[in-house]
Amino acid sequence: MFAPPPQLTDQLSRYGQQHVLQYWDDLDDDQRKNLVAQLENVDFELIQSLWEQFRGGVPDVRDFSKLAAPNSIRLADEIPFSYEKAYDHGEQLVRQGRVGVVIVAGGQGSRLGFNHPKGLYPIGPLSERTLFQFIVDKIAGYEKKCSTHIPLFIMTSPAVHDETVAYFQQQHFFGRQDRITFFCQSTMPAVDAESGRLLLQARNQLFLSPNGHGGMLEAMQSQGILSTCAQQGVDTLFYGQVDNPLSPTCSLALLGYHALSKAQVTLQTIAKQSPSDKTGNIVSIDGRTQIIEYSEIPEALSSEVTQEGQLKLWAANIAVHVFQTDFLRAVTQSSDGLPYHFAHKKVAYLDTSGTLKQPSNPNAIKLEKFIFDLLPLAERTLTVEALREDVFAPVKNAPTESFSTASTSREAICQLHRRWLQEAGCQVSDGVQVEIHPQYAVNLPQLMQRSDLPEKIDRDTYLQIPPFHSFSSSEN
Ligand code: UTP
Repeated sequence: MFAPPPQLTDQLSRYGQQHVLQYWDDLDDDQRKNLVAQLENVDFELIQSLWEQFRGGVPDVRDFSKLAAPNSIRLADEIPFSYEKAYDHGEQLVRQGRVGVVIVAGGQGSRLGFNHPKGLYPIGPLSERTLFQFIVDKIAGYEKKCSTHIPLFIMTSPAVHDETVAYFQQQHFFGRQDRITFFCQSTMPAVDAESGRLLLQARNQLFLSPNGHGGMLEAMQSQGILSTCAQQGVDTLFYGQVDNPLSPTCSLALLGYHALSKAQVTLQTIAKQSPSDKTGNIVSIDGRTQIIEYSEIPEALSSEVTQEGQLKLWAANIAVHVFQTDFLRAVTQSSDGLPYHFAHKKVAYLDTSGTLKQPSNPNAIKLEKFIFDLLPLAERTLTVEALREDVFAPVKNAPTESFSTASTSREAICQLHRRWLQEAGCQVSDGVQVEIHPQYAVNLPQLMQRSDLPEKIDRDTYLQIPPFHSFSSSEN
């Protein structure tokens, strides 16, 4: 019979975690080995110290009196280089093969309530393309426009990895098997908020959850992603999340602003609609850019306005960034790593009688790293404003909510494409839904150059190119 290794049992008793072996006698040897493997991956000292920090409350050492707006290019600004110059410069970078895309897709999407990896969610208003397709199609659109290849790196987690890869296999990697790489982030155990004890989700299984989008750095390092970038001549990475179909993946202007400003990190931002917007604030403290959660900024500060009557802290984080790979490399090689944040959440757990309990109130602490914690490490950052309706339509919540749902996102996609069509000279009747495939036009400038643009659209229409042709829903 397989016995728990003595080193492990010593650790468990030193840190008061012996309960995880409570069901040892009920397990078969494979299950025991599985549990031991999980436990051997746990850094008990770290877990203990994080739980103590959570219990003791972490003192906030940030000096909010120094909060200022970040170094930025606002829509109304006179800027050192024009949009056109930035766009052309970004196009050159992409043409030279220096740009890659990294998408974080390791989250469990618990709010959405979709029983698969979120990237498989069908979001296209008419096409029903998935969130992953929105990203891949945009990349393909820029590859075509710039006659180049753009490598795509997708971060998964153990919870979603196999299904994500199987989906891409099924889709024949959308024809890009040679330039798509999956890398898997690590997990962290959740602990009981009262006792700090590890939670079991089954008799032979700890409750483990992905270690946050900030886990991207370690995962890139351990799986050689930055070396792959270097081998391929990629020095600039567009970063986005899987759940925003309007994310301006590979935006040429954003890439151009980033490169012309010699920034190590650039953030696409939108203006907050009100001081109470539930988005992170992009701010500057002592010349370093940081993101501070909306809940952490005192109301008096977040409501402060400038002489012109605009919010002083105006910039909202939409998790669209551009990174220099040498900056990411330097951060991954520095010893400290990113800090953990505590999320007080409801986590189902096995109680002492072996029954799976579904708590009705938050009972556990999940431990997560956030990618934006690397911002203060950058000496040169830039924040570039875009219109909310051009770049932000996240799919976060179940249909019962009123914001950031699949239907608000679909509506935003149609509205944006309607606006592009109208600006390109096509009349779109009221109440009609329109969707544009990026191979038809990846952005407004490309749409304007199309010679086959219809003059008028008066029924639901999905514009795409051969071998598919554009169709309207009434033809179905
Ligand atoms: P969210 O913070 O919205 O989390 O992730 P989520 O898992 O998608 O959804 P909820 O909170 O459970 O409802 C924002 C982005 O970060 C990725 C997600 O996949 C999404 O693209 N993410 C999040 C990771 O890649 N890993 C993580 O550990 C957490």
